[in-house]
Amino acid sequence: MNETAIQIAYLVATALFIFSLKWMNDPQTARRGVLAGVAAMLLAVIGTLLNPEILTSNYKWIAIAVILGTVIGVPLSWVPLTAVPQRTALSHAFGGLAAGLVGVAKFYGSFQADGHHLSQFSVAALCMEVLLGFLTFTGSLMAAGKLQEVKFIPSRPVTYKGQNFINLSLLVIAVICCVLLVIDLQQFYYLFPVVIGLALLFGVLLIIPIGGADMPTVIALLNAYAGLAAVAMGFVMDNKLLITAGALDGSSGLILSIIMCKAMNRSFTNVLFGAFGQVQASTTQGEKKIVKSATPKDAAQLMENASLVVIVPGYGMAVAQAQHRVREIYDELTERGVSVKFAIHPVAGRMPGHMNVLLAEAEIPYEDLVEMEEINPDMPQCDVCLVIGANDVVNPAARHDKSSPIFGMPIIDADKAKTVLAIKRSMNPGFAGIENELYFADKTLMVFGDAKAVAGEIVKSLASEGDGGH
Ligand code: TAP
Repeated sequence: MNETAIQIAYLVATALFIFSLKWMNDPQTARRGVLAGVAAMLLAVIGTLLNPEILTSNYKWIAIAVILGTVIGVPLSWVPLTAVPQRTALSHAFGGLAAGLVGVAKFYGSFQADGHHLSQFSVAALCMEVLLGFLTFTGSLMAAGKLQEVKFIPSRPVTYKGQNFINLSLLVIAVICCVLLVIDLQQFYYLFPVVIGLALLFGVLLIIPIGGADMPTVIALLNAYAGLAAVAMGFVMDNKLLITAGALDGSSGLILSIIMCKAMNRSFTNVLFGAFGQVQASTTQGEKKIVKSATPKDAAQLMENASLVVIVPGYGMAVAQAQHRVREIYDELTERGVSVKFAIHPVAGRMPGHMNVLLAEAEIPYEDLVEMEEINPDMPQCDVCLVIGANDVVNPAARHDKSSPIFGMPIIDADKAKTVLAIKRSMNPGFAGIENELYFADKTLMVFGDAKAVAGEIVKSLASEGDGGH
């Protein structure tokens, strides 16, 4: 009876995990996706606790683990949206640590029980679990530290001569140890802790040469490692749910990091070994370029006279937490019959879906959030393109300047709009560290200031004109 109940719980949990991923693909069903994921996890835990081996063993330790997990997990859910990437990295660190510890327990547990009669397949799976689990643990901790700008972990890339060679050598040594363990466990069992040590060290060394701003991509990749560690754990424990859930986790992490790399026009090797963000491309100060600026009032007037306004949000909107003011601009304009759309670039901000989450928080209707590929053909018809705290994602250099670090990255064609309004605090560059020629264009007006403050001023102008002006 128990066995049937467990299998049913696992089967339903697997289906829910798959639906969860599917639903999370779309903002309209994302909430349902999250709930399905939570339900699947709950079922998986209940199914596991019903296991006869666990039922007859000591519940005391499980209760302690549940309390500890809750005490750590609940405050983790309170972090602000801007800290979600580092929070996600911490979750991966815990996932990696859990996989690693289960591997250690299984290895030494079976050593005591039957003097190392693990099959070669089990040893290979154990080695993979421990290697990936522990490197995910330290790697994710480093990634979280870099994003949080913890004092002793510099967020800039830390590089030294022969770094890639050293890292690769460590990995090769760890793999050789694993191979020896698989070949003859009796003889080489003492190499197991060496694998653990190398994995812990490799996780740290893999992450230090990567800049803080590249961390979201790396975190997606660490997600994939954690998933693979879970798959290996599933083979070790002979647990099918772990294998499928781990495979889903691993492949979604990998797909996400590929999407992010593509949208930034970077390769995996460039993200992992490129030390991006270290050498800031120097902006050539040749001829003096002219920048035109406007007041929030001018911006308000331009927009209320437009028929189509496209808003391009970017990292600056997230930093300023300007999304609610932006919503008010949207309301004021749509009330006047202006059509307002939001152009969403896949890597605007610093984490996947960053802009979608912020705009959803401000309750902007989903149908007005338009993906880059869909909005670009309409840009020549756009009367005013309002760029809020975005920079690289609207830089036309990506289309024509072969020497630019963002050359080839798909962008939102803001420069094709009739007029461009850009809200940012200064002429400082964005993530890629390069000047944006859009801001020097004839059709562009800069509205300098903090995105939230400027958007607030625009709303005020619109509201006062709405009251008395018409
Ligand atoms: P960025 O190119 O980074 O530009 C953001 C701009 O926001 C800056 O130029 C900054 O100019 C402005 N800003 C900052 N704080 C502001 C504030 N309080 N008020 C107003 N403006 C403010 O951003 P983007 O266009 O969103 O592009 C994202 C970049 O990040 C891309 O290069 C992308 O490849 C990279 N990236 C993205 C991801 C994901 S998954 N989204 C992951 C890794 C890397 P001022 O200082 O002058 O205000």
